[in-house]
Amino acid sequence: MSNTIPATLIPGDGIGPEIVDATLAALDALQAPFQWDRQTAGLAGVKAAGDPLPSATLDSIRRTRLALKGPLETPSGGGYRSSNVRLREEFQLYANLRPARTIIPGGRYDKIDLVVVRENLEGLYIGHENYIRIDDDPHAVAMATGINTRQGCRRLLEFAFEHAIATGRKKVTIVHKANILKALTGIFLETGVALYEQKYKGRFELETMIVDACAMKLVLNPWQFDMVVTTNLFGDVLSDLVAGLVGGLGMAPGGNIGADAAIFEAVHGSAPDIAGKGIANPTALLLAAAMMLDHVKLSALGNRLRQAIDDTLNLDQVRTGDLGGKASTAAYTQALVSRIKNG
Ligand code: NAI
Repeated sequence: MSNTIPATLIPGDGIGPEIVDATLAALDALQAPFQWDRQTAGLAGVKAAGDPLPSATLDSIRRTRLALKGPLETPSGGGYRSSNVRLREEFQLYANLRPARTIIPGGRYDKIDLVVVRENLEGLYIGHENYIRIDDDPHAVAMATGINTRQGCRRLLEFAFEHAIATGRKKVTIVHKANILKALTGIFLETGVALYEQKYKGRFELETMIVDACAMKLVLNPWQFDMVVTTNLFGDVLSDLVAGLVGGLGMAPGGNIGADAAIFEAVHGSAPDIAGKGIANPTALLLAAAMMLDHVKLSALGNRLRQAIDDTLNLDQVRTGDLGGKASTAAYTQALVSRIKNG
């Protein structure tokens, strides 16, 4: 078929293959035109090809420039470097897009609809760390260097501002800590304000906020936010906070987006404690697939998928255990597919 869209599929580790199967069933029911090239990474990559990021996987994404990825296991402390971080670096996926929307009403926070845009490559996460030995303690002093560049800040902020306009967001909040980290996060604030004045003034409201105040306000009154844009470390923390407002990581999708490649994933990990039991909640990966449909300009299909998820969870009340329900992954998927097919 000429109108198919080549895309790389990485089932990943733990519950990855189970939630990927559920997502493929939903995408098939939608007749989404992805032509999948199935590849491995993480622990599955080590088992299949002796490498957590096999060259065949990298080659596939170089060709397709688009991927849907299950969670990848990363050993803590020692072992190999995170394949997720390597993928971001390799494809310069500088923007991490983390939407949070209330799907199941009646929780602690209702009617949340906001998005966190996180810088994905710079800041304190570049991995420049050292210890200094004092006497017989080799780890007496620990040091980390953070780097933010004008160009890196600008491209991320530009992405966020364009995304705000394209998706009808009314307000963007630049989050920083320029009162203390005057250079490292001051450059982000300064670049954002200048860019707004130059190109975006009047197209949406801009506010600036210190990260600690932002964390408090997100908990006290999250409805005052529309889009939060921030540096790597703050974005990592705040995007999980925001996921917590709408029911936790099981409901949180993410997109890693660069100038010419994008990888979509669930925010949660491989959940080894429930892997293989058939009880995982595939909603986060399903929502990531909906973001992927938006990304390839098939938002009508993305909206149908989001609506079917809403209806399955709320009208049919079919929910997995993490949401207080009793449905297996397969039963939830079946209910979702019938919602997609029958409305
Ligand atoms: P995790 O997110 O895998 O699990 C935390 C808790 O949430 C567990 O109790 C798990 O059962 C539950 N959970 C997570 N997703 C669920 C789902 N879809 N349905 C139902 N319950 C769910 O975090 P953890 O245990 O810290 O990490 C496990 C592995 O995943 C580690 O190797 C870590 O490095 C990796 N990881 C990978 C990520 C990625 O590939 N993007 C992101 C985060 C962690």
